[in-house]
Amino acid sequence: MLEALSLDGRAVIITGGGTGLGRAMVRALSRAGADLVIAARRVGPIEEAAEEARALGRKAIAVATDVTDSSEVDRMVATTLDELGKVDVLINNAGMTQQNVRKPIWEISDDDWRVGMDTNLSSAFYCSRAVSKHMVDRGSGKIINVASGFGLRGGRDIWMYCCGKGGMVQLTRVLAFNLARYGVTANTIIPGFIPTVGTDDMRESLPRGGANIPIGKLGKPEDMGPIAVFLSSTASDYMNGEMFTLDGGGLAAGMAPAGYEPLVPMEA
Ligand SMILES: NC(=O)c1ccc[n+]([C@@H]2O[C@H](COP(=O)([O-])OP(=O)(O)OC[C@H]3O[C@@H](n4cnc5c(N)ncnc54)[C@H](OP(=O)(O)O)[C@@H]3O)[C@@H](O)[C@H]2O)c1
Repeated sequence: MLEALSLDGRAVIITGGGTGLGRAMVRALSRAGADLVIAARRVGPIEEAAEEARALGRKAIAVATDVTDSSEVDRMVATTLDELGKVDVLINNAGMTQQNVRKPIWEISDDDWRVGMDTNLSSAFYCSRAVSKHMVDRGSGKIINVASGFGLRGGRDIWMYCCGKGGMVQLTRVLAFNLARYGVTANTIIPGFIPTVGTDDMRESLPRGGANIPIGKLGKPEDMGPIAVFLSSTASDYMNGEMFTLDGGGLAAGMAPAGYEPLVPMEA
């Protein structure tokens, strides 16, 4: 049974794979056997991540890419096809948690809106579009979108992030609906609050411990590994258009970090 989870010989593109949750997924995917293209703007972190994967014997390439620019995305996918020969899995993980948060709506400029939506939603569309024809022609492929609990509820003064991540959940469904007939599936991972550099600026408004989370603790980046491997593997072949929540039960409990006290702990 565990053979179905092996990623031996699978070619995976992951965006934002140099830091935080992306880096943890890169570790898990490479340990499971995947070859990787790791894309983000800064070369340093993605090159380090690729080096770690190569040390395990995988092919791994860092490709500097701004995923808000569709021509850079197209180039990154072309490089993947040149270097790895195919794309089995695309993981749209790049996102922007930290900028433009905690502003009242009247202070959000057109530019804030565009950058936030481009980073959190258009990027996933560009990457999905760029791999779609190749996947359809091969009759197989998996697209995995990393959204957020904020894609399913409002957040205090968090505008583009909530709207972008909500759009990503819908992008998954529309991809799932339209591409499944060609053998290509799409699913969403919904992480709860997992402290990373990307969440530093939200520390004030988000849980600092597990008191409000049914499971009693915050998540760790490593928690993303197994679900990323599962959704990249043939073990998840019949799953399509779904959301996979990884939040210790936060959404199930209706926990909403509203940005003000009192936060009511699970146990007094
Ligand atoms: N941590 C959480 O609690 C949490 C919860 C729910 C969802 N998420 C989502 O999980 C994903 C990873 O977040 P994280 O917490 O791991 O934060 P992170 O460490 O800041 O990761 C974000 C990554 O996205 C990349 N990125 C940002 N803008 C980009 C652009 N324009 N082009 C290419 N790459 C770009 C960044 O690399 P460069 O700066 O080098 O480009 C960075 O590696 C995000 O989509 C986030 O919204 C996180």
